[in-house]
Amino acid sequence: MIKHVHEEHLIYQGDALEVLENEIKDSSIDLIFVDPPYNIGKDFNGLKDKWATDESYLDWCYQWIDLCLKKLKPTGSFYVMTSTQFIPYFDIYLRDKINILSRIVWSYDSSGVQAKNFYGSMYEPILFCVKDRKNYTFNSDDIKVEAKTGAKRKLIDYRKNPPQPYSNEKVPGNVWEFPRVRYRMDEYENHPTQKPIAMLERIIKASSNPGDLVLDPFSGTFTTSFVAKKLGRKSIGIEINDEFAKIGLRRVQGLSELNGEKLHKEPKTYEIKNFQQQTLFEPKI
Ligand SMILES: C[S@@+](CC[C@H](N)C(=O)[O-])C[C@H]1O[C@@H](n2cnc3c(N)ncnc32)[C@H](O)[C@@H]1O
Repeated sequence: MIKHVHEEHLIYQGDALEVLENEIKDSSIDLIFVDPPYNIGKDFNGLKDKWATDESYLDWCYQWIDLCLKKLKPTGSFYVMTSTQFIPYFDIYLRDKINILSRIVWSYDSSGVQAKNFYGSMYEPILFCVKDRKNYTFNSDDIKVEAKTGAKRKLIDYRKNPPQPYSNEKVPGNVWEFPRVRYRMDEYENHPTQKPIAMLERIIKASSNPGDLVLDPFSGTFTTSFVAKKLGRKSIGIEINDEFAKIGLRRVQGLSELNGEKLHKEPKTYEIKNFQQQTLFEPKI
């Protein structure tokens, strides 16, 4: 396990269970966002996301879930994702231990054909839980979205005295539409399951305040820590893979070099082409 400290942002390159157990103080975290391997066979830079049995995957998950709950403050919030086929197990496991306030569906577009003989998977589930339903952070004003009424003119609420136009903003419901991170997007990093900045912005704005401590035990490209930093929160990110940890060191800690190795974002194929074309047409002096 290697610990990298930079101002109020810690990066651990190591195993989530070990770091949670030995490095994180109990009841110290305001917000935990967990986007673990889903047990669906993705390739995380050589680490196969597939357990021998469903039971062994769930046993492993229950270990880090218990640790996360231990590390969460009594006023803390916990967001957890996994594949559609495993989220019901998480739901049943968690409902006796914490309050599940929302069962969120992250719904997204797809350019390609998903499936021909059944309904293709177009969403990922997220459980939003709090330890104390009477005392938790939820900054609803910071995450409001446009309320689409379908009407061109402003609708008037006649229940109010005097009548007033309906508010054109609302707190989002539990179906979230965010595009998946695609290769051509600026935020894209070289990782198979990177989560969108916009989604983490909603979660961190709603469920933490500036100065709060946000933890992500399976950081991948460190989207959570990146957004936490941007929004003035403190962060702890854990990631087992050293290549992905380097993304975090660059993205969150601003490091340009590690042990003599340059930490730069790989140029996209079309950027390389543009770059070559530019240099081709440069006037020769
Ligand atoms: C679903 S991805 C997270 C993606 C991340 N939310 C993002 O926005 O980039 C899960 C990550 O967990 C990492 N991982 C797998 N097993 C781990 C373990 N035991 N401890 C820490 N990280 C682990 C994988 O390398 C992978 O990057």
